[in-house]
Amino acid sequence: MSELVLFDGPDHRNVVVEELDTGEGVPCNQHIIVDGKEAMILDPGGSKLFTRVFAATSKLTKGAMLKHIFLSHQDPDIVAAVNGWLMTAPKATGWVSELWRRFVPHFGSDRLVYERINGIPDAGMRMTLGQRDLVILPAHFLHSCGNFHVYDPTSKILYTGDLGASLGAPERVVHSLDGHTERMEGFHVRYMGSNRALRLWIEMVRQLDIEIIAPQHGAFMVGKEVCSDFLDWLGTLDVGVDALEHLYAVPAEDVAAK
Ligand SMILES: [Fe+2]
Ligand SMILES: [Fe+2]
Repeated sequence: MSELVLFDGPDHRNVVVEELDTGEGVPCNQHIIVDGKEAMILDPGGSKLFTRVFAATSKLTKGAMLKHIFLSHQDPDIVAAVNGWLMTAPKATGWVSELWRRFVPHFGSDRLVYERINGIPDAGMRMTLGQRDLVILPAHFLHSCGNFHVYDPTSKILYTGDLGASLGAPERVVHSLDGHTERMEGFHVRYMGSNRALRLWIEMVRQLDIEIIAPQHGAFMVGKEVCSDFLDWLGTLDVGVDALEHLYAVPAEDVAAK
C-alpha cells in the first residue's frame, strides 16, 4: 500500500492511498482530504481492502476525526465495506445519492449504521470539512443514475469517481493526454451513460478552477492544461446509449460451453 500527496497546504492535505494488491478486483484509489481536525474519505473501497485502507487512513489523518465517508455511487468497489467503516469510525457520517441509500443495507449494514448514512439530493450540495467548504456536484449517469463528484476549492482538485478512470498507465500522474486516451476510451464508451449527460457535466465543470482531476481508478491528471484537454476529449466521445447499436444482436454462440 502506498501513499501519494496531491496537495499539501496550511492545515489542508489531499492524499491518495493506493492499494495495488486487490487480487482479481480492479485496482482502486482511496482519496482522503484532511482539513484541520477533520477528515473525509472518498469511495473507501471494498471489503478486501478495508483493514489495510483503514489502517493507512488512521496513520494519514494524524489524529483528525473521520467526519465524512463519501460514496460517489453504489458499486461494490465503493460501498461494500461501508458497514465496517461506520462501525470503526463512530463519529463519521456516510453520504450516498438518495436514489441508492436504501440499497446500501444489502451490503450488510446494521440498522444503527444505516441511520448514519445520509442521502445526497439530486441537485448536489455543499458540505463543511474543518474550516472549509467542499462542493458535491451532480454527475448522474456518469456512470450511475445517482452519481456525485467532489470539488475541493482549496486544492482545486476535482474528484471524479469512475469518470477519468484508466487502466495500465505506467505513471501515477499524467501531465498530458498523449498515449493516455487509449487507456480510458473503451471504459468510458461502455460504462458512461449518455452523450447528453457527459456534455452537461462538461459545461458545468468548466466553470470551476481545476488543477487536478483525480479518478477512483488509475492515473491522476495534473495541471490546468491536461484537465482542460480531458474535458475537450470527453466532448468528442459517443458513449452509453449513444453508442450501443452493436450490442443488440441475438447471441449465436454458446459461451458457457467453451
Ligand atoms: Fe462504478
Ligand atoms: Fe469504480
